[in-house]
Amino acid sequence: MTELEALKNRHSVRSYLNKPIEEEKVALLNEKVAEINDKTGLHIQLLINEPKCFAVNDVDYGVFKNCTNYFTMVGPKGMDEEVGYYGQMLVLYAQQLGLNTCWAKSSFKKSGVTFEQNPGEKLYIVIALGYGETQGHERKTKSMEALSNCTESSPQWFKDGMEAAMLAPTAINQQRFYLSEKDGVVTAKAKFSILTHMDLGIVKYNFEIGAGKENFKWAE
Ligand SMILES: Cc1cc2nc3c(=O)[nH]c(=O)nc-3n(C[C@H](O)[C@H](O)[C@H](O)COP(=O)(O)O)c2cc1C
Repeated sequence: MTELEALKNRHSVRSYLNKPIEEEKVALLNEKVAEINDKTGLHIQLLINEPKCFAVNDVDYGVFKNCTNYFTMVGPKGMDEEVGYYGQMLVLYAQQLGLNTCWAKSSFKKSGVTFEQNPGEKLYIVIALGYGETQGHERKTKSMEALSNCTESSPQWFKDGMEAAMLAPTAINQQRFYLSEKDGVVTAKAKFSILTHMDLGIVKYNFEIGAGKENFKWAE
């Protein structure tokens, strides 16, 4: 499965099977985490067979079932966009390995999360991981016109990038972002709301896969 296929097939999954993730897959995921941490200074950790994080049912939003594996997205303060970008890299890699995922900001109790945290770091969010009961389902999206300045005459790579951006997970499916293109340069803006900078990192990761990084530049 290519990364683009993973992106198109992926939906949030909150109910999981009692099926362990194979050791080889855990090793591959840990390699990816180490690569990202080395490159970015993030302190992401993969927790396997840790039932306490999602063992709650008095959360504000989104109840999870049987989820015992997750990434803790830990890192220095001020890295919301990077957490989104590299978290989505992990989400799509997991999908390529045949696993399902769901980002989770408020569906767990922090006291149940096992993670290491160095001075100056914080736990941004977790990403649930495992074999889903289902593959999830398609959801509504805002229109391309509402999310970008894309028109009939826009370059094909921008249209393809926007198709991928519209499939990016965002908190409560809010899609509070706007992408505009001019002369091969794309500007990505987060609108005002919760978690929109993390969302924007996720959107930018998806956009790059759809558009092809070689076809455009991000505005500074
Ligand atoms: C930053 C972020 C935080 C999220 N927090 C939660 C959460 O606390 N609980 C939950 O059930 N889903 C959470 N989600 C999942 C979104 O509801 C989901 O991604 C969105 O509805 C789009 O659906 P999709 O992922 O299937 O495309 C979160 C997603 C993102 C990107």
